[in-house]
Amino acid sequence: MQTVVLPIDPDHPDRLVIEQAAEVLSRGGLVVIPTETVYGLAANALQAEAVQRIFTAKGRPSQNPVIVHVVDEMAAQSLVRAWPERATRLCQAFWPGPLTIVLPRSELIPDIVTASGSTVALRSPAHPVARALLMACPFPLAAPSANRSSSISPTKAEHVLKDLNGLVELILDAGPCAHGLESTVVDLAKEPPCILRPGPIGPEELLRVITDVRWEIRPHAATEKDASIRSPGQLSRHYAPKTELHLLPADQPFWKTIHQACEAGQRVGLLYWGMDEPLPSQPNLIIDRMPASAKEYGKVMYDRLHAMDAHGLNVLFVLVPPKSEEWLAIRDRLTRAAVANEPDATGTLQRNQE
Ligand code: TXA
Ligand code: MG
Repeated sequence: MQTVVLPIDPDHPDRLVIEQAAEVLSRGGLVVIPTETVYGLAANALQAEAVQRIFTAKGRPSQNPVIVHVVDEMAAQSLVRAWPERATRLCQAFWPGPLTIVLPRSELIPDIVTASGSTVALRSPAHPVARALLMACPFPLAAPSANRSSSISPTKAEHVLKDLNGLVELILDAGPCAHGLESTVVDLAKEPPCILRPGPIGPEELLRVITDVRWEIRPHAATEKDASIRSPGQLSRHYAPKTELHLLPADQPFWKTIHQACEAGQRVGLLYWGMDEPLPSQPNLIIDRMPASAKEYGKVMYDRLHAMDAHGLNVLFVLVPPKSEEWLAIRDRLTRAAVANEPDATGTLQRNQE
């Protein structure tokens, strides 16, 4: 299959391009769409065969459900069995935007979308291109991040092409995504509600709207065999670059570790975060200075990881960002990327499972 890439203005999407994309989706095809978080791999959410193609293109395990994108709260209500008051409050505060809510699903949703589970994840994206497309389609859009399963999410069309060229009909290229990190996922089917995946909307912001939301992620415990997983995005090994990634605590003598790796003849990368000091240079060491603020760091993190992967390194070190809440989603993704390289309880490396 030939993949067509169409540039599209992020703020004023061309109507003809939107119509072309809607037409591909109506035929059961796959279209990669920009959202304010990351690029999504979209299909008609009400057509099981179309959604099956998402799983095939991504190489995604069938037990990992996908998010359904809707234009607004009313469209979301038509896809669930119950709409609690908390959902209204959250949608009024954060939709359209980077918040996904999980609710009991209606029978309209095919089993494949929810991995046969009883709930569906819903999100109304804010990106003008995604919105224009949702308005042009008489159906909601199932759309996971547009990357191969377990690898880094794409925040630019070029990242998508690396993974999915020849596997999708169309990519709408609207330039880099604004947030750069996947949406916050909140489970409202649970009492009390809990955060399944941290994201651009932090716990404090959520707590201002629903006062009893809990945080329930076990960063290292979950494995694919763990039947108790509520949201497969909680799997330890997720969001990983191809290069082996290790986190280094910034308050420890990390330069020593880096120099040792360089001296052992390895090609080494470092995502540096910290003081604005001059950094050492070494022939086989590539250093990338990351932005100081969490918001800016999140925006470019996946892009920098993609770039480091392209250098053909033996190892990538990342300095651990601060512990404060604004860094929660970033630390979550980095921890998962690093877990891919840490031995599990049996001493087996979890990497290379794919
Ligand atoms: O920002 C985003 O959410 C992006 C853009 C494209 O919208 N999408 C995204 O989708 O990140 P994906 O499939 O890569 O991640 C979906 C997350 C996973 O952690 C998945 O396990 C969880 O949402 N999820 C989906 N349906 C669920 C459900 N019914 N119950 C619990 N978790 C669910
Ligand atoms: Mg994903």
